[in-house]
Amino acid sequence: MHVVTSTSSRQPTFMVRDVPIYGDLILSPMAGFSDLPYRLIARDFGSAMGYTEFVSVDGLLHGNEKTKRLLDFHPSEYPLTFQVFGSSEDKIVEACKMIEPWGPTIIDLNMGCSVAKVSGRGAGAALLCEPTKIGRIFARLSKELSVPVTGKIRLGWDHQSLNYVTVAKTLEDNGASLIAVHGRTKAQAYNGVADWSAIAEVKQAVKIPVIGNGDVKCVADIKRIKEQTGCEGVMIGRAAIGNPWIFSRKDRHEVSFEEKAALIRRHFSLMLDYYGDYGLILFRKHVVKYISEIRGAAAMRESFLTATTPEYFISLLEEAEAEHRELKAA
Ligand SMILES: Cc1cc2nc3c(=O)[nH]c(=O)nc-3n(C[C@H](O)[C@H](O)[C@H](O)COP(=O)(O)O)c2cc1C
Repeated sequence: MHVVTSTSSRQPTFMVRDVPIYGDLILSPMAGFSDLPYRLIARDFGSAMGYTEFVSVDGLLHGNEKTKRLLDFHPSEYPLTFQVFGSSEDKIVEACKMIEPWGPTIIDLNMGCSVAKVSGRGAGAALLCEPTKIGRIFARLSKELSVPVTGKIRLGWDHQSLNYVTVAKTLEDNGASLIAVHGRTKAQAYNGVADWSAIAEVKQAVKIPVIGNGDVKCVADIKRIKEQTGCEGVMIGRAAIGNPWIFSRKDRHEVSFEEKAALIRRHFSLMLDYYGDYGLILFRKHVVKYISEIRGAAAMRESFLTATTPEYFISLLEEAEAEHRELKAA
């Protein structure tokens, strides 16, 4: 009897060189948020692949333990992208060669970070000002690494220097296997509105897969950005914090309190497993997002933020669940 396995019959949504990607929604790399615990959750809910938050090539080359830890992962996350940032061509190449044996499926270079401490030092979005340098970096990375190399960009430094099409073509011509585009300039930071028509221009200009990113806030936005850009995939950042359901194409208001409480418990437990008791502090920024749209959120937020032990945090969650049951029964 011939048994058809589910994987053999599944068509990938797109390929990153020779890496099949199943699904079109991807959790954005987000420093302080897209850590191992949250990536596991996002992946479970349908994020098609993982991206670590960006890690400094200088930190990696100095053997900084905190930096190295940002690249911890679990095999269930595959396909997984390690994202790095840096400004020195040689150091970027050296660090990528150093981390390649650690097991990423893909290595990505951040060319979009707008914060001063990164872009003010020639890294992140500052690289957009030097397309020739980007070309040299990618030519070397694609030659010297075996894994596919990809880039995440913004539209340019500012509106006077919009060079996304040039940068995208440079990436493709020098061996990049995918481009993720956040539809803003560095100068905009997170202000204004992401320009999806610019992302569509990038999509038209290159043959490699393009991931559209910026201001996807709800399930309807996913359809809109795909229609407007023709992108192979959509990267979701801020709207996925406290809301991994978006990767299952379910909006926040469609999620019941019980589902939220169950996920808070699970995410919290993953945080404690990974970070120890410090996971409680780090979980605060997630829990406020999980509860943001539920009845009584303000009071609940206050109490969750006062919890100083994991046991107390869980007792507060149990209280909230009991109150919710009473309200429902009334
Ligand atoms: C808190 C935070 C941290 C971020 N860290 C990174 C990062 O490490 N690497 C990166 O490429 N982009 C980073 N970004 C940018 C996001 O990946 C994404 O491009 C941006 O938030 C726009 O998408 P959104 O509108 O879906 O949030 C970060 C964004 C936020 C809000």
